[in-house]
Amino acid sequence: MQFSKRLQPLQSNVFADMDRAKAAALAAGRQLIDLSLGSSDLPAEPHVIEAIAQSLHNRTTHGYLLFNGTKDFRQAAAHWYEQKFGITVDPETEVLPLIGSQEGTAHLPLAVLNPGDFALLLDPGYPSHAGGVYLASGQIYPMPLLAENNFLPVFADIPAAVLAQSRLMVLSYPHNPTSAIAPLSFFQAAVAFCQQHNLVLVHDFPYVDLVFAQTGELETRINSGPLPITHYPLPVTKSLVPSILQADPEKSVSIEFFTLSKSYNMGGFRIGYAIGNAQLIQALRQVKAAVDFNQYQGILNGAIAALTGPQAGVKAAVATYCDRRDAFITALHRIGWHVPTPQATMYIWAKLPPHWSQNSIEFCTQLVKQTGVAASPGAGFGKFGEGYVRFALVHDVPVLETAVERIAQFLS
Ligand SMILES: Cc1ncc(COP(=O)(O)O)c(C=O)c1O
Repeated sequence: MQFSKRLQPLQSNVFADMDRAKAAALAAGRQLIDLSLGSSDLPAEPHVIEAIAQSLHNRTTHGYLLFNGTKDFRQAAAHWYEQKFGITVDPETEVLPLIGSQEGTAHLPLAVLNPGDFALLLDPGYPSHAGGVYLASGQIYPMPLLAENNFLPVFADIPAAVLAQSRLMVLSYPHNPTSAIAPLSFFQAAVAFCQQHNLVLVHDFPYVDLVFAQTGELETRINSGPLPITHYPLPVTKSLVPSILQADPEKSVSIEFFTLSKSYNMGGFRIGYAIGNAQLIQALRQVKAAVDFNQYQGILNGAIAALTGPQAGVKAAVATYCDRRDAFITALHRIGWHVPTPQATMYIWAKLPPHWSQNSIEFCTQLVKQTGVAASPGAGFGKFGEGYVRFALVHDVPVLETAVERIAQFLS
């Protein structure tokens, strides 16, 4: 059987290899501690589950939703965004529900790239950003993220010949896997660059709420200034990290992707949304119209409950990840592995000890084989991720401490 050329780059997948290594460790009787996936172990809130449960008994929710989701959902997302960032959003033309933000970021290249066009992607970066470009038969220019640049790309380093063929830039901060955050001034530079070079600017923003620093401290860092008070009585708190649309309030080139997977522990429910430039929203809607009819309406009703209901669960999740981060970092320091303390996300991005510095895949394969602790090799996120390993903080503190004990034995 013959398959398309665009499938070829998708055939090698480090994470599929890691899955096999995990299965082999389990089969060999190891007790697995899986820190390799950013899938929250925390539950969705009861009021969210209740909204979905009630929807199930309402037969009007059982049909197709078609292309736009529901008005109530679009309004809830727009109001949530306005409350957080102080920028007005038209729920009819500037919001699009998604079956998770991964679905949206992976489909968008089909709407903006012609075969052979370049997309400028962060390296290391989230694998589906590259996957979407490959599926659209595009080419990838990896923008290296280096520790000395605070894991921000340097736009001036992009070759002119690549820029001339580029249509799309994808950013994502707080960043998976490095956990870096970006100041508003960086987003302003990115918007100006994309306007100048006629690029669509995508910002994937799943970790908008998973930020740990004190408000004052971080506000100074992101120099975003005070946000206007809006008239929506939602209990959502202002964001500690900037949105790309704060740098592009006219929504001239930008589209931003949100998910309920992280803030509201709803990863399995598959619900996200895009907010941004109306033409981009319309183009993405056209791609999706050919592919899907949206998810079940009850999921959208659960999402409305999450976005407009009490936000205590978000705060509790952030506090949980913060405690886990502190415990994990402290334990690593105790065994002599010094890694910087991240200010956001649910990940620890650790530079490998010198012996392993050029072989993160072998490190992770051996680690899970010998100890049952599964982590993600930096190389799986791109060439510039080599030399690092990512730990996802998706277990309670005692389990994380056990993981570090096993890592210590492995390293010794
Ligand atoms: C950068 C990034 N984008 C998208 C996703 C997936 O989000 P969703 O569950 O909404 O598809 C993740 C999940 O880890 C992520 O880290």
